Amino acid sequence: MDGQSVRLRDGRTVFVTRLSPSDAEELGEEFAEADRETLYRRFCGPPPKVTPRLLARLTELDFDRRYALVARDKAGKGVAIARYEAMPQPGVAEIAVVVKPAWRRVGLASALVTKLAEAASRHGFGEFTATYLADNRAVADLLDSAGARRVITDGLADAVVRLPPRPSTMD
Ligand SMILES: CC(C)(COP(=O)(O)OP(=O)(O)OC[C@H]1O[C@@H](n2cnc3c(N)ncnc32)[C@H](O)[C@@H]1OP(=O)(O)O)[C@@H](O)C(=O)NCCC(=O)NCCS
Repeated sequence: MDGQSVRLRDGRTVFVTRLSPSDAEELGEEFAEADRETLYRRFCGPPPKVTPRLLARLTELDFDRRYALVARDKAGKGVAIARYEAMPQPGVAEIAVVVKPAWRRVGLASALVTKLAEAASRHGFGEFTATYLADNRAVADLLDSAGARRVITDGLADAVVRLPPRPSTMD
């Protein structure tokens, strides 16, 4: 996938591409600028220490078992990231998504998760899982609208979404 424009519900447009190692520096800056609550919700607790190793792990992807998309605004600044990572169980991948506050509630996470689901399905995954803080209504509603089943234990929710069957073409 070379990149695609996505028009959001409020009329703004983002450009979605695969995340690449050249995005590591910007990602580090985003960690430093992000608000605490966003980071806390994204990582279900205190965020990891930002090190070159972490940034490399998050941006060096094989686009098969580890896959991430970034959405950029007109100026080229990253505004959202969605990723999946294969779990030890065959056919299962865990997803995580984060959207900058000024870009929320206009369908961006939904659009990215749909694209991720299509990619995951092409790569042979049949199920997405997501773990989130049980009071995270935004992601709970987002996943419920994708048909998730969820189990809540000790303040954490585990959701499972069945993916559509694998299409015939590969990207
Ligand atoms: C969760 C998050 C990714 C949602 O991103 P978003 O781009 O605002 O989501 P969308 O606009 O695609 O919303 C899709 C649906 O999710 C639900 N939703 C999203 N935000 C919501 C909120 N604040 N309250 C209730 N429902 C919400 C709604 O059902 C929404 O559909 P609707 O707008 O038609 O009602 C975003 O709030 C975020 O980055 N939060 C911090 C990080 C995080 O919690 N990540 C999840 C853990 S991995």
